[in-house]
Amino acid sequence: NGTGTAITGAGTSHDPRTAAGEQAQTLTTRQGHPIYDNQNTRTIGNRGPATLENYQLIEKISHFDRERIPERVVHARGAGAHGVFEAYGTVGTEPIGKYTRAKLFSQKGKQTPVFVRFSSVIHGGHSPETLRDPRGFATKFYTEDGNWDLVGNNLKVFFIRDAMKFPDMVHSLKPDPVTNRQDGGRIFDFMSNTPESLHMLTFLFSPWGIPANYRQMQGSGVNTYKWVNQDGVGTLVKYHWEPQQGVKNLTQPEAEAIQAKNFNHATQDLYEAIAQGNFPRWELRVQLMSDDDHPELDFDPLDDTKLWPEDQFPHLPVGMMTLNRNPENYFAEVEQVAFGTGVLVDGLDFSDDKMLQGRTFSYSDTQRYRVGPNYLQLPINAPKKHVATNQRDGQMTYHVDTAPNQNPHVNYEPSSLNGLTESPRAGADHEPEYRARLMRQKIDRRGDMDFKQAGERWRLHNDTEKQDLINNLTDALSAATPEIQDRMVELFSKCDAEYGQRLRTSLDNVAKDPSAATSRYMGGRVRPAAANGHTN
Ligand code: HEM
Repeated sequence: NGTGTAITGAGTSHDPRTAAGEQAQTLTTRQGHPIYDNQNTRTIGNRGPATLENYQLIEKISHFDRERIPERVVHARGAGAHGVFEAYGTVGTEPIGKYTRAKLFSQKGKQTPVFVRFSSVIHGGHSPETLRDPRGFATKFYTEDGNWDLVGNNLKVFFIRDAMKFPDMVHSLKPDPVTNRQDGGRIFDFMSNTPESLHMLTFLFSPWGIPANYRQMQGSGVNTYKWVNQDGVGTLVKYHWEPQQGVKNLTQPEAEAIQAKNFNHATQDLYEAIAQGNFPRWELRVQLMSDDDHPELDFDPLDDTKLWPEDQFPHLPVGMMTLNRNPENYFAEVEQVAFGTGVLVDGLDFSDDKMLQGRTFSYSDTQRYRVGPNYLQLPINAPKKHVATNQRDGQMTYHVDTAPNQNPHVNYEPSSLNGLTESPRAGADHEPEYRARLMRQKIDRRGDMDFKQAGERWRLHNDTEKQDLINNLTDALSAATPEIQDRMVELFSKCDAEYGQRLRTSLDNVAKDPSAATSRYMGGRVRPAAANGHTN
């Protein structure tokens, strides 16, 4: 990259391109001019005024003025690390080629470099890492066939199953546009009208909503994808990461104790573990299902608010990921990295999951805005294989992606003047057939499925998890109107009668005696009386 050390490359201490009298460490402007005074502005007399031609000062300050790029609209707070994924060459006990021709999985011991970014979702780039939130778990695999991004969360299900609802869901969880505080009253206003969220809420308000750190949490692709084999046959697939460090979550009081002393504990934990050679590892496991509608199941396999029961669809191991190298520069790597669900390699495909389709539009759209139209030329995002396109120009074009012997005049295709050519097919295309009316309709097989798995999850929680869940729901719901509280109690009662009953009792106790509240984290406020027609 011209002079200097590439941020993602190995550091060099000696730069042969130094001018006479300069050393490699000599400070320069971005134009390469040596700087002999970095302390004093050039002024008329030593008390000023300053002059406008002061290039060095203006370059320094104006670059500083542009140091920030837009934060991610969600998942702004994160930490990342480099590592390697090693394939088992099998899926469970079967040869993996039966289901996917993706080369990264194909042979036992095959290694693929990865970069992972973990994150929390709702608050800004320097918010505490103890907040109740899903945690992002996004992995970029730099495969020989180009990049594959697996953009997942720690929890295996989601709040909603239609991308149409995502901006509303996020708005309800983000701070109130007037008070700038996250508000349980707004959250449960939305959620009480969105019963497919009950399963996710039963995880999120339990200790599963605050993983102890990034190393001791699971990951999941959440949405349903497909694998495609050499014959073009598709199989539905869900991805899961299992931490070899075990799973550890925090109750609300435990999280508050950490937050009082350290709001970066998860970033610190990951960085220090890797720096000390204590490399965290996750096994990648998949669940497979034949590629059809499965009317025999009481849930839709494309509904990301539901789990695929493990007894029917076992988690089959396919490889192991080890994170073994910290980023050299946070901004260049962790901030500018761009993951997207559309980034798949041959042998991996989309399912018809409509959340997944909405996500797939959203990621690269936001990254063209957040990082810029040439975000894929940045070292952290660029594939580690040859890239040759006829796409040109745009803001911050860093280089032109051409083949070494390509005719530089030909930036179009087809051409007979030594331009780029199409590649041969890697296998038979996967060509599903569609026969349906175009419509707007939700997928909910039996109409009551939003309650069943949420109730099962309640019953699977141990006593500590159940009590923490009730306390946290009470806290957040205490900011909601009585009508919204009643609606949530009714919905949780449909999941499990005990669940609803315990929440009712807890809400009533806190209403009678506010000092009975265990926490004032997300709600716990006195609702102001209606003013100016607003009833926030
Ligand atoms: C980040 C949209 C659902 C996981 C983002 C970003 C957007 C977005 C715009 C910011 C990306 C960037 O600036 O680089 C959406 C939409 C969704 C959706 C529209 C639903 C329709 C989900 C789901 C998951 C998820 C279900 C979990 C499986 C993530 C993760 C990140 C992220 C992990 C952070 C990636 C990183 O570390 O850079 N999402 N999202 N999202 N999303 Fe989603």
